[in-house]
Amino acid sequence: MELEGSATGRYIVVKALEDGVTIMGLTRGKDTRSHHSERLDAGEVLVAQFTELTAAIKIRGKAEILTEAGRVESGT
Ligand code: TRP
Repeated sequence: MELEGSATGRYIVVKALEDGVTIMGLTRGKDTRSHHSERLDAGEVLVAQFTELTAAIKIRGKAEILTEAGRVESGT
């Protein structure tokens, strides 16, 4: 299935620690633009994968982020 091929299989978890946390998906390739943004309120959790389209994410606001690289907090 094409969708399976486009995702990396690894998941990241973002838990909002305040209202209005934004998560932006940044495109893969020569130009980096924000192609999607998602807003979370306190306590909401997003579980996501990187894909052929999404190479990086940017998080604005206070959040707990879990990846295979470890745990980090934004906005503190
Ligand atoms: N378009 C960039 C790329 O494919 C996206 C990117 C990947 C990026 N890693 C990044 C942007 C780190 C900023 C910082 O390489």
